[in-house]
Amino acid sequence: MGGSIRNSEQRWLRPNPSLKSPTHYGSHAWPPGRLGSSSAARPSASAFAAGLARTLGRTTYTTVVRHLIFEPLSVEHARELGAVLLNEQVYEHIGGTPPSLDDLRDGIKRVLAGPPPHRAGDEWINYVVRLTGSNALVGRLEATVHDGIAEVAFLFGPEHWGKGYATEGLRWLHRLLLSRPDCHALWATTVPANHRCQSLLVRCGYRLAASERPSRLVSYDDGDLVFRGPSAA
Ligand SMILES: CC(C)(COP(=O)(O)OP(=O)(O)OC[C@H]1O[C@@H](n2cnc3c(N)ncnc32)[C@H](O)[C@@H]1OP(=O)(O)O)[C@@H](O)C(=O)NCCC(=O)NCCS
Repeated sequence: MGGSIRNSEQRWLRPNPSLKSPTHYGSHAWPPGRLGSSSAARPSASAFAAGLARTLGRTTYTTVVRHLIFEPLSVEHARELGAVLLNEQVYEHIGGTPPSLDDLRDGIKRVLAGPPPHRAGDEWINYVVRLTGSNALVGRLEATVHDGIAEVAFLFGPEHWGKGYATEGLRWLHRLLLSRPDCHALWATTVPANHRCQSLLVRCGYRLAASERPSRLVSYDDGDLVFRGPSAA
């Protein structure tokens, strides 16, 4: 996807010194699903605590919905994320070569530091996704909220493709984003060759945008397809 992962300043997986970070969620903005406030809904207590700690006073929740657990991204996720995502299949359409584990960890740190000063109005939202049954980490979700919209992106491990997890995860992200007063529409970009990404977007309610576009799309690169997703009711 042209997605933020590939192009924007919110590059989790690649070194980018100009970068900062994501996810800050006001507790008021939330959430669809069960909050991670009980031990049953919080299979990884350390990651949960780390996620909360990294929000520096702004509350971010671990959430469990159906088959999936959504944990705020933290540096402690790097090794598990690396084991699942650092391979060529995942990077085929988002830059080609996977970064090293160290680069992945550095990228997470930059993401967690927040948007750079010239993007101070943007908000970066990042979650890792686990299975409720096994607690296995299967992928990650990202959104950049700016100018009244959100741009979404997603990465799942190939061994977890074809099972509907990305669909379930992206729909959860939609509910999260569209419950915010400052987000009225969802957008995504992708390279034309990324057919899996396009199928996922269409399955989740996106349509190829013709002429209409937001004035700024942080994830867009020349040649990308632009998809408009669901809007707030
Ligand atoms: C893009 C990406 C997340 C899509 O993953 P995916 O596995 O195709 O998506 P899902 O997990 O939703 O699975 C959908 C498939 O599972 C099937 N499926 C099974 N059970 C399902 C269910 N309950 N709900 C929905 N789909 C289900 C669907 O029919 C579909 O199969 P198909 O591909 O044969 O049509 C994945 O390919 C990926 O991570 N790619 C690398 C990173 C990338 O390019 N990201 C996009 C740019 S940021």
